[in-house]
Amino acid sequence: MKHIVVLTGAGMSAESGIATFRDSGGLWEQHSIEDVATPEGFCRNPQLVLDFYNARRKAAFEAIPNKGHTGLAEMEREYKVSVITQNVDSLHERAGSTDVLHLHGELDKVRSTADPSLIYTLTADNPEIHLGDKCEKGSQLRPHIVWFGEAVPMIEKAMGIVRVADTLVVIGTSLNVYPAAGLLNYVKSGTPIYLIDPNEVKASYPGVHFIRKGASEGVEELRGLLEGLK
Ligand code: OAD
Repeated sequence: MKHIVVLTGAGMSAESGIATFRDSGGLWEQHSIEDVATPEGFCRNPQLVLDFYNARRKAAFEAIPNKGHTGLAEMEREYKVSVITQNVDSLHERAGSTDVLHLHGELDKVRSTADPSLIYTLTADNPEIHLGDKCEKGSQLRPHIVWFGEAVPMIEKAMGIVRVADTLVVIGTSLNVYPAAGLLNYVKSGTPIYLIDPNEVKASYPGVHFIRKGASEGVEELRGLLEGLK
C-alpha cells in the first residue's frame, strides 16, 4: 500500500470555523505570541494564558470536522495515511483518521507543571482549567501545548515518518514555524509533494504540485489526481 504522509496546519481546520494564526483576522493579530504562547508569558500572567486556551478548547470541542478531514480519513481505505499535524484540535481523529501525530500538543489535554508525564484529558462538559487546578502531586495544571521556546518532542518521530513517505501532502500551513516547516527537507529525493492552500505559500521545493484551493476542495482534487496515477 502506498504510504501518504500529510502535514497539516491551521488552514486544515479553517472550514470548521477554527481561526488560523497568520491570515488577516487570525489569532496572532488579536493576541501577542509572547503573552499567550511562551513559558515566560505563562509565568507573567498564567490567568491570561489559561483563559486563552480555555476559549480555544471550547471552540475546538464545538467544531466539527470538514470534508478535508473526512476525505483524508476515507483515503485510509486505499492508502496507508499518516497525518502529522501542527493543529491542537482533534478534528483529524474525530473524522476517523487513525494515525495522527500532534507536533504542537493537544488542546483537550492538560498536564502538570511539575511532572510533564502527568497528563489529563478534559471533556466537552468540563473544558476549562483555572488557577488552583492541580495535578495529583499538587502542582498547577497547564495546557498540553508546545509553546514557542519549548522543545518539540515529537519532531524526531515526524522526521522518521516523512523519510519513508511515498507521497507528501502539505495542507493549510504557512510553513513559517520551525522545526515543523523543515519536515519537507526529509522526504526521499523524487518524492512527489502536493501542497493544498488557497493562498500563495513560499515553498521552494523541487517539483511541488500546488493545489490552490481550500482544504475540502483541495483534498477532493488530490484524491482524483492520486487515483489517476494508479
Ligand atoms: P498559519 O496561520 O501560519 O497558516 C495558515 C495557512 O492556512 C495559510 O497558508 C493560509 O493561506 C491557509 N489557509 C487558510 N484558509 C484555508 C483553507 N480553507 N484551506 C486550506 N488552507 C487554508 O498556521 P500554521 O502554519 O498552522 O503554533 O501555523 C503554524 C504554527 O504557528 C501553529 O501550529 C501555531 C502557530 O503559532 C503554536 O502555537 C506553537
